[in-house]
Amino acid sequence: AKIVLQPQASKPISDMLMGVFFEDINYAADGGLYAELIQNRGFEYHPADKKYNDKAWTSTHAWSVRGEGASLQVDSVQPLHGNNPRYAMFTTESSRAALINTGFDGIVVKKGEAYNFSMFSRQIAKAGGKLEVRLVSEKQGLLAKATIALPSSEWRSLKTTLTASADASDVRLELQPLQAGSYGFDMVSLFPQKTFKGRKNGLRPDLAKTIADLHPRFIRFPGGCVAHGDGIDNIYKWKNTIGPLETRVPDRNLWNYHQSMGLGYFEYFQFCEDVGAEPVPVLAAGVPCQNSSHGGGGQQGGIPMSEMGKYVQDILDLVEYANGGVNTTWGKKRAEAGHPKPFNLKYIGIGNEDLITEVFRERFEMIYHALRKAHPEITIIGTAGPFFEGTDYVEGWKIASELDIPVIDEHYYQSPGWFINNQNFYDKYDRSKSKVYLGEYAASLPGKVRTNLETALAEAAYLTSLERNGDIVHMTSYAPLLAKEGHTQWNPDLVYFTNTEIKPTVGYYVQQLYGQHAGDRYIPATITLSEQAENIRKRIAYSAVRDSKSNDLIIKMVNILPVSVNAELDLAGLKLGKKISRTVLSGDPAGTTAKPQTIDDVILEKNTLELQPYSLTVLRFSNK
Ligand code: AHR
Repeated sequence: AKIVLQPQASKPISDMLMGVFFEDINYAADGGLYAELIQNRGFEYHPADKKYNDKAWTSTHAWSVRGEGASLQVDSVQPLHGNNPRYAMFTTESSRAALINTGFDGIVVKKGEAYNFSMFSRQIAKAGGKLEVRLVSEKQGLLAKATIALPSSEWRSLKTTLTASADASDVRLELQPLQAGSYGFDMVSLFPQKTFKGRKNGLRPDLAKTIADLHPRFIRFPGGCVAHGDGIDNIYKWKNTIGPLETRVPDRNLWNYHQSMGLGYFEYFQFCEDVGAEPVPVLAAGVPCQNSSHGGGGQQGGIPMSEMGKYVQDILDLVEYANGGVNTTWGKKRAEAGHPKPFNLKYIGIGNEDLITEVFRERFEMIYHALRKAHPEITIIGTAGPFFEGTDYVEGWKIASELDIPVIDEHYYQSPGWFINNQNFYDKYDRSKSKVYLGEYAASLPGKVRTNLETALAEAAYLTSLERNGDIVHMTSYAPLLAKEGHTQWNPDLVYFTNTEIKPTVGYYVQQLYGQHAGDRYIPATITLSEQAENIRKRIAYSAVRDSKSNDLIIKMVNILPVSVNAELDLAGLKLGKKISRTVLSGDPAGTTAKPQTIDDVILEKNTLELQPYSLTVLRFSNK
């Protein structure tokens, strides 16, 4: 193949193209990115967290009692806080009984590392006394213990630090009062001191780093369907997720589990700042999933119009929370949480894949106009609605054009063949209209193994077309991002994990290479192949970008053929750095273990290189 770059025809493209979309799906938050080790710490799990009310999923989930004559009941009389109405009433007739939590499939501890234990307690019968707090491994026995004094009849916060004497992944937390009595326990927490960037109430470092290593320019959160919920009462409310943990309002996760809200809006903003990504919160457009209202008791299809004023105000308040001065109502709350400086919020998504109906439109318009008027500095991202092949989001784009919405969010999950064949998808988009945020996409296969090198290369080829269309495609994010093994509701995902392991897919490395090697100017090229057949043409994809900060030139080439292809690059007219690095991701197309290999200081004989069969090659010309 001969690839002739045309620097004279270069054009600016978005420097925000590569981002991530975090959704609390597949236990991505509690039991995942959020570092809390105790499951159901607030005793707020409820049968209604599960679709069709699972009677086995109760407020004592993950908790058990050891010892004769001891019992655990969940009570709500005189609670710690009205938003967190339930607590454990643990009663023991001896000093030998314990209340036990097994975490999320066991608690993982590391030798020599410290864990902050905290909880609220009040004595219900008999005052005073002591509590032994222990970390016990199923196989290795006692790994840490501390004794703390129990308070009297008022709720008090108790704290201690436990240091593990060995590595273990089968640990349980034991709470053993050293005398008979009846005790109220709530918000029982075990938090590793080591969190991502050392943040209080922070994130699991290995998972957070895996996300940071993608070099995301933005993070969309807290989800797609999670953001709009599956009924009015299930719409994600950001105000319920900030402030002291015991005052946050937990909720059912529509993916059939529970959201503690420990990972809330403050933590999302902090994470974005910590990884240098723009925060992109997405809020419901006043309608839940499929514009349903089940459980909400309101007007069919959306938040009743009589309540929309308050809903709109909540969205305006979010801007104040993120960006307002410390003397504003909501900016003050941000400062109290430990961040007096603004988070510099620039984007807000309104709506997620909603059916574009009158019910949607009425509410969307109300939010859109109010937000635009109050905060013209915020870029609003609207939704194109669900993807129906062939319709190209007609209704969503109609509204986008009428209202002049700056950016529109499109989603599609397709086969690798679809991505290979549709690399011209955005070539035809009208440049005078809204820009695109491809907020969710993934190539997947039917069957058990949903992704492999072939799907990853289909995405890599498609990404060359997204760079080519980076003048109209402003942002992109693969979806979903995280999935805990054994708790996965959606396949495929970009990164699988357990309590101890991180398992990035091959597609992860494609995202990472595009994130690490992004540019802000696109340089078109022509390609001449010895074999001009159209089906072969689509299997050789390429894009060239320049990063104006480093002035590096980056060329990405994808070969989805079973044979190697010789590529001859014509780089005439381009200022080139002297150092060339070459990164190749290749292997068995059905394989799931390929990882990129980089060679620095490559010498390109006559600007020619071999593109290996089934490969993505990234060439970077730099002066560093
Ligand atoms: O990414 C998983 C789900 O797919 C999202 O929650 C939703 O927006 C889409 O339907």
